[in-house]
Amino acid sequence: MQASVPKIAIDQLIDIVRAGGRVRTGIDIFNKQGQLLLEKDVLVFDVKIMENVKRLGAEWIPIVNGNAGGLWDKDGKQIGLPGAIPKVVERPQPPPKMQVSEIDHKINEIRELKGIAAKKYEHAKGCIKEALVSIQESGGEIDYAPIAETVTSLLDFLAKNDNAFSYLTREIFSSDDYLYNHSINVCTIGTVIMKKFNESFNTVVNSFLNNVPNNNLSESQQNEKSFSYFLPDDLRDISIGFFMHDLGKALIDKEILHKPGSLTEAEFEIMKTHSTEKGLELLEKNRLSNPYISNISVYHHANLYQDEPRCYPSGKNHTAIPPYAKVCKLADIYDAMTSKRCYKEALNPVGVVTDIFQKYAGKDPLLQYILHSFVKSVGIYPPGSIIALTNGQLAYVLDSQGPTLLPVTDVHGETLKGKPDIMVLDKESEAAGLKVDRRKPPISPLDAYKILPEYLLKTIQGAL
Ligand SMILES: [Fe+2]
Ligand SMILES: [Fe+2]
Repeated sequence: MQASVPKIAIDQLIDIVRAGGRVRTGIDIFNKQGQLLLEKDVLVFDVKIMENVKRLGAEWIPIVNGNAGGLWDKDGKQIGLPGAIPKVVERPQPPPKMQVSEIDHKINEIRELKGIAAKKYEHAKGCIKEALVSIQESGGEIDYAPIAETVTSLLDFLAKNDNAFSYLTREIFSSDDYLYNHSINVCTIGTVIMKKFNESFNTVVNSFLNNVPNNNLSESQQNEKSFSYFLPDDLRDISIGFFMHDLGKALIDKEILHKPGSLTEAEFEIMKTHSTEKGLELLEKNRLSNPYISNISVYHHANLYQDEPRCYPSGKNHTAIPPYAKVCKLADIYDAMTSKRCYKEALNPVGVVTDIFQKYAGKDPLLQYILHSFVKSVGIYPPGSIIALTNGQLAYVLDSQGPTLLPVTDVHGETLKGKPDIMVLDKESEAAGLKVDRRKPPISPLDAYKILPEYLLKTIQGAL
């Protein structure tokens, strides 16, 4: 059926419009990236529009007569459709193999990473489960060695790929294993933020140090001026701290811990002790004196700026809260908001990143630095989220760099049947008017799940 639709060379349409004529396609025109170039009902009489369509990659344009499509000359007289028009040649066959192989390659990459991630995740889940059961059964004892080993294994995985944490399972359907999933998610997200924070902080300090001459230093000492805020061993301990940050919850009454509604003031006071008294009690009982681990346990709900409400322990000057504890708090909020809980659905990560940024931006210079590391880590458009484009399409984020997207619906919100090309939202597409539609509220992960094409769903199931 597609083959019977007459197609006209874009240059020929440009000639018609330039000569004062009109063009209406009668069918939405997309380029290979799935970008809408021309809507079916638009009557084109401005040559710039046609030139733009050509610039965005269209070579041959179908004209569907039956849908009110057609060509008209400057006097409004209809021009006969292809066949009658000279210079119309059949569109050369597009290279479908190329399109399919590009998307298949990316899908295979995701599948492979998800396979490794799923194993790491299950192992980590078993580890945290064991620790929580052990605390409950023994009144607070844990085996630290498997925890350290599990976190090291997660760190190896995260080192392989900048977006690796997004391939780890995100539970949007059930809140049953929330505490286990949450411990792993906070550990992985926090680790990525810490890595970014440390790298960019070190770069700034080192560039300053390298511009400070010190004649008392030998030449080799001059060359060695390299500062590192956190060393690899520190970063590993911090990641272990992230993994263990909520272990104190194992000592909180289950009724309060799993209460579906909001907590009373008295219950909230008890809940608060998971990070302070109970958390510290646990570390002391197991003779874990590492300051990174204990600071994370105590301060992961502390104030990120002076006088931030409902934070604990209260009364602490925000400058005294270590940056890694602040990172833990951001990762904690991000994970809590993007996961299903017994009292709420999971939220779209795109909206959550924006909300967190807006809430904490401009409060304190160091916090601003941490916030930038957070946004760079999860991305303004985190992989796995669904975003709306200004042309009405919905797209799945493959990579926050770009962002690189896979269109999943057409402009009317209908799920695409085939596999479109991957598109990158760069300056060029923005100049052409295609960008993320930030006016539309982010689609919830559950709704997103309903519109994803089958092939993508199979690959990422459980990853949203
Ligand atoms: Fe907590
Ligand atoms: Fe937490």
